[in-house]
Amino acid sequence: MFTAKQIRQKFLDFFANKGHLIVPSAPLVIKDDPTLMFTNAGMNQFKDYFLGNEVPPAVRIADTQKCLRVSGKHNDLDEVGIDTYHHTMFEMLGNWSFGDYFKKEAVAWAWELLTQVYELPADRLYATVFEGSPQENIPVDNEAAQYWENFLPSERIIFASKKDNFWEMGDIGPCGPCSEIHIDLRSDSERAAVDGLSLVNQDHPLVVEIWNLVFIQYNRKANKTLEKLPQSHVDTGMGLERLIMAIQHKHSNYDTDLFSSLIEKVCSRAGVQYGANEQTDIAVRVIVDHIRAVSFAITDGLLPSNNKAGYVIRRILRRAVRYGYHFLNFKKPFLCELAHVLAEENSDIFPELQSQIDFITKVLCQEETNFLYTLEKGLILLQKHIDKLAKKKQSALSGEVAFELYDTFGFPYDLVKLILREKGLSVEKLGFDKSLEMQKERSRKATQMDTNDWIVLKENNSPTQFVGYDQLSTPTQIYSYRKVKEKSQTFYQLLLSDTPFYPEGGGQLGDKGTLSSSTENIEVFDTKKENNVILHHVRQLPQAIDEIFEAKVDENVRRRREQNHTATHLLQASLRQHLGNHVIQRGSLVSENELRFDFSHPSKISQEEIQKIENTVNAKIRSNISKDEKRNYPIEKAKAMGAMALFGEKYGDQVRVIIFDSDYSVELCGGTHVSSTGQIGFFKIVSEASVASGVRRIQAFTGQRAEIFVWNSIIQLQTVQELLKSPKNIPMALEKLLQENQELHKKVEASEKQKLQAMVTQIKEKAIAAKDFSYIIEQVKLPQPALLRSLCFSVSRELQSHLDQLAIVLVTVVNHKPHIAVHLSKSLIEKEGWHAGNIAKELAKEIQGGGGGQEFFATAGGGDATKIKNVIRKAKTILDI
Ligand code: SER
Repeated sequence: MFTAKQIRQKFLDFFANKGHLIVPSAPLVIKDDPTLMFTNAGMNQFKDYFLGNEVPPAVRIADTQKCLRVSGKHNDLDEVGIDTYHHTMFEMLGNWSFGDYFKKEAVAWAWELLTQVYELPADRLYATVFEGSPQENIPVDNEAAQYWENFLPSERIIFASKKDNFWEMGDIGPCGPCSEIHIDLRSDSERAAVDGLSLVNQDHPLVVEIWNLVFIQYNRKANKTLEKLPQSHVDTGMGLERLIMAIQHKHSNYDTDLFSSLIEKVCSRAGVQYGANEQTDIAVRVIVDHIRAVSFAITDGLLPSNNKAGYVIRRILRRAVRYGYHFLNFKKPFLCELAHVLAEENSDIFPELQSQIDFITKVLCQEETNFLYTLEKGLILLQKHIDKLAKKKQSALSGEVAFELYDTFGFPYDLVKLILREKGLSVEKLGFDKSLEMQKERSRKATQMDTNDWIVLKENNSPTQFVGYDQLSTPTQIYSYRKVKEKSQTFYQLLLSDTPFYPEGGGQLGDKGTLSSSTENIEVFDTKKENNVILHHVRQLPQAIDEIFEAKVDENVRRRREQNHTATHLLQASLRQHLGNHVIQRGSLVSENELRFDFSHPSKISQEEIQKIENTVNAKIRSNISKDEKRNYPIEKAKAMGAMALFGEKYGDQVRVIIFDSDYSVELCGGTHVSSTGQIGFFKIVSEASVASGVRRIQAFTGQRAEIFVWNSIIQLQTVQELLKSPKNIPMALEKLLQENQELHKKVEASEKQKLQAMVTQIKEKAIAAKDFSYIIEQVKLPQPALLRSLCFSVSRELQSHLDQLAIVLVTVVNHKPHIAVHLSKSLIEKEGWHAGNIAKELAKEIQGGGGGQEFFATAGGGDATKIKNVIRKAKTILDI
């Protein structure tokens, strides 16, 4: 029987033999594509080839692609673990033709691979083809059906609807009719009893789709219409996990050797046996699936966090922790241990897991520790709600509370339901759904970007000419534009024939500048890149849109960003020199004002180290090293020079390399840089902090901004020195001052306490017996109104033993403002039904003020101190004395 590794390799070898270029998997996280959060299909990385924005390196390509289906159009998260065939992360084997072969070859090769190489039984296979859509004017796919007839009897070729047989990546983008291959994995007797044909596309766990052949012919536009593409392409996708299940004669993806080591590890740690109990099995499946998604995401540069894609990863991780906690009794971090097994298993095909294992485990461990703590807090909260329900004799938990548990503590609805059911209680589903819907709507609104379709002014036969590495201005024309609505703002994106504008990328912000014609001047406020197209953001369109414009970059902003970008490279090299080669870039921001650099490092960086790091960068600046820039340089040669490729970045064969001293800083980079380091002037680190577990952030300034920072620090220090009367040693003088201050503070406190005690003794004497209780109604002199409270409490405490039915009303005037405090002993409240808050409110009317509080103590304040006598009178009336 073939192993998982052999099955993957055979696919790649098969298509290599058919003239396909084998490429590596793209990262899980998509850059420059606002329509997708994660790679959800093998074809994502080739979108530009289908749309004609880019020329592919070969017309036939094949690979295995890491995919994540946990957001957007394809989202399987809630199913994962519950059944035996859904996954968050999975590998998709695929072969592509870019305007080369089409349906005939795609069908024939799929059949050959499945039946001859993998030796899957032909009589268990079915093919579906698209039945057409008259509404959208798409014909029945008779062509695909006809090719299938070469291999399959016509009764095993099924015509199916758009839902199953028209593939779209998202709401917009390349798409087309598809033809799926399904396999019936049931036993012979089951097959004899029920015909497999009736189970295709019916969500039967053993009659499943294994391969999807998509014939990309259209582009779905924002206005929902289909546009025919100039060429026809093939995009196929075959889930590796499911294929292995079919070949290894298993009934679940999780029973294949792809998961066996992971399952063994989880089970041995939990002391359970896989297959013995439905509930623990689900938990095991959840964990072995989720560890893959989370570890690969971290490797590709995506850390669990509180926003967007990072939040999705955090949710997956928490789902695994929760299942482990509840069903496998994992009360301590465990995923971090499991990551080692995953890395070893994948060391051949995805070596990046092994090379980053220390970082992955650190992130996992930190996240797990934090979440386990939250989980325990959530359980306590849930218990409180359960107790409340019992007290009120209710049996259903409100949907809003269930939602809070879900949202804040990661408790899914089903778990809350389960815990409640064990106690004979239930949850209000309607309220939960409503809260969930509201949250979804909020986040949709927050991230939504509505783009209209492009209005084409001139057909652009060649892509935008980017001249921004060498020039800051160029004549240009507008090829096309579209309107964009994002949150509350509306703007336009322009596609130009030529541009000097650098689009945001590699941490460096997009250029700003102007587009000027003989009559107009339009501000470009940002420049971005989407699917390799440079988009110029403007708030208004020019009146004369056909003119020739001069596109001009804001030079000042650009130059300052260049200083910061080069300084970032010098910093990275210095960090590796002083801290070690484990320092890997995890993120960066280059603006005109500052640079921020995030990198992996396990601990806080000492001041001494910071000084060394900064000194080296400044020494490199003073050496005035010239930039050596290599464009269209072979990536292998660049790597041989020591250039570091970033995880999570997609690089072509040809790269741009930026070198400042080949022994010091060599980086693959698309950004813009100073021509020699002296132009940076001066570099100053201004902060060092942690941003996530195992990740530190350095914030730094360069040039004039750095000088201003230093000057401000010096001025502050001088001011302190002057205020301290110019001592020789400022820290020592400050320390002395602080100590003196503390001592004085203590003295003042002690003396105030004494005074208060004296006052308590005095006031105690004023207690008067009324009918059947005692009262003190007095005006007192105090330095702060807050002391009224201490007075009331101390007096009542000291009198409690012999006057347990006591009402106290104290008034005072501080800074011409009257203040009132009312204190009632417990038995008085019970007996008379009085409420201190209501009394205070009533009294406050006399001094044109307001107040309130609890039953036993309340305060009030007002504006008219002259009426303080009225308060005393009224207090007596209220207490009926
Ligand atoms: N794009 C298709 C899918 O994801 C085939 O690769 O199913």
